[in-house]
Amino acid sequence: MIFIIAGARPNFVKIAPIIHALGASPYKLVHTGQHYDYAMSQAFFDELNIPIPNIYLNAPAGSQTEQTAGIMLAFEKELLKEKPSLVLVVGDVNSTMACTLVAKKFNIPVAHVEAGIRSYDMTMPEEINRLVTDSISDLFFTTTLWASNNLINSGIAKDKIFFVGNVMIDTLLAKKDRFSKPLCWDQLSLNDKKYFVLTLHRPSNVDNPEKLDEILTAINKQASGYQVVFPVHPRTRKMINQLAQQYEQIKMIEPMGYLNFNYLVQKAIGVITDSGGITEETTVLGVPCITIRTTTERPETVEMGTNELIGDNPENIAPAMKRIIEGAWKAGSIPEKWDGKAAERIVKILEDKGYFN
Ligand code: UD1
Repeated sequence: MIFIIAGARPNFVKIAPIIHALGASPYKLVHTGQHYDYAMSQAFFDELNIPIPNIYLNAPAGSQTEQTAGIMLAFEKELLKEKPSLVLVVGDVNSTMACTLVAKKFNIPVAHVEAGIRSYDMTMPEEINRLVTDSISDLFFTTTLWASNNLINSGIAKDKIFFVGNVMIDTLLAKKDRFSKPLCWDQLSLNDKKYFVLTLHRPSNVDNPEKLDEILTAINKQASGYQVVFPVHPRTRKMINQLAQQYEQIKMIEPMGYLNFNYLVQKAIGVITDSGGITEETTVLGVPCITIRTTTERPETVEMGTNELIGDNPENIAPAMKRIIEGAWKAGSIPEKWDGKAAERIVKILEDKGYFN
């Protein structure tokens, strides 16, 4: 029996297809509680048909250290009660690293899904989580050959690395026919390709109120004639509440569920974001994507896909939006093995290795 760990919103999108591919193979789902609001957590369980977690760790909200330490202490108690044959972690959030560390101290093998991606930006908490997790994991499932090569270059044996594709895209393709119109569509009188979608939550963009204001001001100014739909992450909401400005074109709404959000993305003229996962989804949906960051751990979304990194200077936002509005954005293609079958490949490998015996 294996344990599957999930804690934050992007994790839920990644574990769903793995759980479905497991069929009758025994597992327990551990929810760390890193994300706890209905819209950040339960909405994803409902829409993606993820079963109720077997174990809930109740991660404390607080600093990254408090959160990580709280998850570690609670997970240790669970491993004292029951030892799984393997702990499977996904992505790069604090829950991923916390549970990997605890499992390895118990000599339990760890499989990391979405291993090997690197931004080479050590100011990102996620980069630290990736490095720590990959330095002690036992099995590595990668989304690209570039990620596999990063692992090989860091000294990991080739026979532990499996290029399986992208589980986030498994979910996207499985749910594409069920994307559903959000309430805001009629409330804001949205029309196909007549609005942008905006998401922001990286500390480097949202934790400094002046920077956040500059970003929103630039987007607001360039958007004239287009609405900008902005589902606001809780972290960003706390900062926006401190800003006195109005941004007429920017429509701030609550975080959205998966099916509503991707409906909006699919019909948008473009997306402006600082997320990593969304750049993968826009690449597969063929929607132009502006990333307000200086680095990406997903270079394939830029080299092959529809994503472009514009750096973190808000002055670069308007010219990029203009190119999208004028229809001058590049067309993209879809990376190898982003075909909806990554979870099946992962489960087959785990079965062949005897983790369910
Ligand atoms: C986390 C992940 C990030 C991921 C993002 C997706 C890490 C280091 N970061 O960042 O990689 O892209 O999730 O959303 O793990 N909060 C709520 N309700 C919630 C969740 C969070 O109010 O349901 C609050 C927290 O209390 C905290 C803030 O939002 O004050 C940030 O949450 P946290 O989980 O620490 O990090 P994220 O910024 O969400």
